[in-house]
Amino acid sequence: MKISEFKTAGKLITGAGAINALADEINRLSISSFAVVTDKGVSQAGLFDLLLAKLPFEPTLVIDDIPAEPEVTIIENKVRQLRDTKIDGVIALGGGSAIDAAKVLAATYDYKGSITDLFGENLIKERLLPLIVLPTTAGTGSEVTNIAILADPIEKVKKGIVSHCLLPDVAIVAPELTLSCPKSITAASGVDAFVHALEAFISVNASPITDALAEKAMALIFHSLPHAYRNGENLVAREQMATGSLMAGLAFGNAGVGAVHALAYPLGGRFHLSHGMSNAVMLPHVLRANAPFCADKLFAVSLLLKLCPPDSKKDFAITTLLNAVEKLCSDVGIPRTLREFDIPESVIPQLAEDASKVTRLLRNNPKQLSVDDIENIYRKAY
Ligand SMILES: NC(=O)c1ccc[n+]([C@@H]2O[C@H](COP(=O)([O-])OP(=O)(O)OC[C@H]3O[C@@H](n4cnc5c(N)ncnc54)[C@H](O)[C@@H]3O)[C@@H](O)[C@H]2O)c1
Ligand SMILES: [Fe+2]
Repeated sequence: MKISEFKTAGKLITGAGAINALADEINRLSISSFAVVTDKGVSQAGLFDLLLAKLPFEPTLVIDDIPAEPEVTIIENKVRQLRDTKIDGVIALGGGSAIDAAKVLAATYDYKGSITDLFGENLIKERLLPLIVLPTTAGTGSEVTNIAILADPIEKVKKGIVSHCLLPDVAIVAPELTLSCPKSITAASGVDAFVHALEAFISVNASPITDALAEKAMALIFHSLPHAYRNGENLVAREQMATGSLMAGLAFGNAGVGAVHALAYPLGGRFHLSHGMSNAVMLPHVLRANAPFCADKLFAVSLLLKLCPPDSKKDFAITTLLNAVEKLCSDVGIPRTLREFDIPESVIPQLAEDASKVTRLLRNNPKQLSVDDIENIYRKAY
């Protein structure tokens, strides 16, 4: 058996009402003055007020204008604002955008260089500020991963800062925080969570531990996403999605994601498709290209999702799975092709070139893809 390590947040508190634990955690971490990092959409949905009601004392600073899919330059500005305030803790309330921003802000509070220089692996060595995160989407799994993704406006791609210092001290996953998620965000972030579990499951770095998490996550998300999408008020479906997305985060935070994410990154960087949407539109096409190279694992997924009888032939079970994944995406309103996003066909070679540089993720993929392979996938997705 390969040696592998398992990384997660220091403490996970989950379930409806988990937000009631916030005050105790603030005290336990000896936080006496903190910043809240959130965004306008989350505040307008009433979630900031909900958070305020659970706090033992008022925040010293509120940063409530983190944009979706933030660029690194925005974080550079915000860290200056943060440093002008004496705080000893950070609380993130939001989707992956606000959480990733808070992770980087907390870890660079006393760092003097440029944040752009931190893209890559293990370039942040320590984090002085304790960090508590509360996800409001289901989701990125960012609450338990050691990565923050920011857009690089110069190179026009999304990039990752990876460091153990980005792992939060506490993740409070309270499904009621996702009830107000609009349909389009529920769909895109929900498919993103499914991709996290699936890509972790077929990753070359998968372990029995990440497999178990990924399997449960796929089952939860596959069956509950259409319900959460159709009826956002359905707390049972929202709870299953929150748990599924958390488990998917634990799986991919340790086994990694692969080519779906690598091919999605340039769509976010060049055409500002959201992370969830760009993954969702690429998923069926990359999965078809990967299928021959992870057939046993996809056979297992097809059986675990109960898509076909246990004695089915492998090829039939895999084809059924590929069709079911396509149907899941279309049932929650995900466009099937890149053409529908007004992306010009002429840009495909450039997208393939950009994606081929995301080696941090491509190396986890069951098939090592050449630039030509990647270009072919984009053409099929067009
Ligand atoms: N760090 C990681 O491990 C990781 C993993 C995957 C994705 N990401 C990153 O996360 C970001 C995407 O995060 P996301 O998909 O969670 O979306 P998001 O945080 O960008 O939010 C999208 C929109 O939904 C709104 N919103 C969020 N929760 C809401 C709620 N409960 N009610 C009403 N509105 C709500 C926000 O205001 C925002 O306008 C991208 O930048 C992506 O690259 C990070
Ligand atoms: Fe993702």
